[in-house]
Amino acid sequence: MKPLPGVEALPLDVTDPASRAAGASFVKARHGRLDVLVKNAGILLDGTTGLMDLEADLLRRTLETNTLGPLFIAQAFAPLMGKGGRIVNVSSGGGQLSAPSTWSPAYCISKAALNAITVQLAEVLMPRGIAVNAVCPGWVRTDMGGPEAPRSLQQGADSILWLILKASPDLTGGFWRDGERIAW
Ligand SMILES: NC(=O)c1ccc[n+]([C@@H]2O[C@H](COP(=O)([O-])OP(=O)(O)OC[C@H]3O[C@@H](n4cnc5c(N)ncnc54)[C@H](OP(=O)(O)O)[C@@H]3O)[C@@H](O)[C@H]2O)c1
Repeated sequence: MKPLPGVEALPLDVTDPASRAAGASFVKARHGRLDVLVKNAGILLDGTTGLMDLEADLLRRTLETNTLGPLFIAQAFAPLMGKGGRIVNVSSGGGQLSAPSTWSPAYCISKAALNAITVQLAEVLMPRGIAVNAVCPGWVRTDMGGPEAPRSLQQGADSILWLILKASPDLTGGFWRDGERIAW
């Protein structure tokens, strides 16, 4: 992909401690600070297998990327952030405990746990003036979402951009879609 003007890409594997540390060191050396952290990386490995036949390895790998990755990325990068900083965890409606769903159980469990991390991280970082929120982008036409998904890439990104650019920095510890709060 052609790089956008002013955009610098940095390869980073969210499951690899050395890669996370190298990413944080690079940002610190290059820019001295970080204003916004969007944790978007995610995997959906479930096939048609239901919860009762879920294999441990598939669940572990899913949690490693979708849940532990965002937590440890926050540990690595939040020290570079200050008052007014914003962290966005890209979650999914599949992780809503208020609307339980049995499709793709490993994925849904990983996003429910990511939501729990979002709430805790928001509390822990509130004294430093850093807002932490989760967002559901909706069903989007990406590799994961597939060609049948109703939302364009721009529509999927809009909820994330709203949290970064338009939402009040006082809004923290919430779950959002299309600029509206949704239930956990
Ligand atoms: N698409 C939807 O309908 C939908 C709905 C709700 C929520 N979401 C969430 O939105 C986020 C983005 O999903 P998407 O639809 O864009 O999925 P996608 O098309 O499958 O893309 C996933 C991205 O995550 C990256 N990634 C995977 N494992 C990684 C790792 N260990 N370290 C760093 N990057 C890694 C992939 O990089 P590589 O290509 O290099 O592997 C890829 O860029 C995910 O968190 C997903 O759960 C998506």
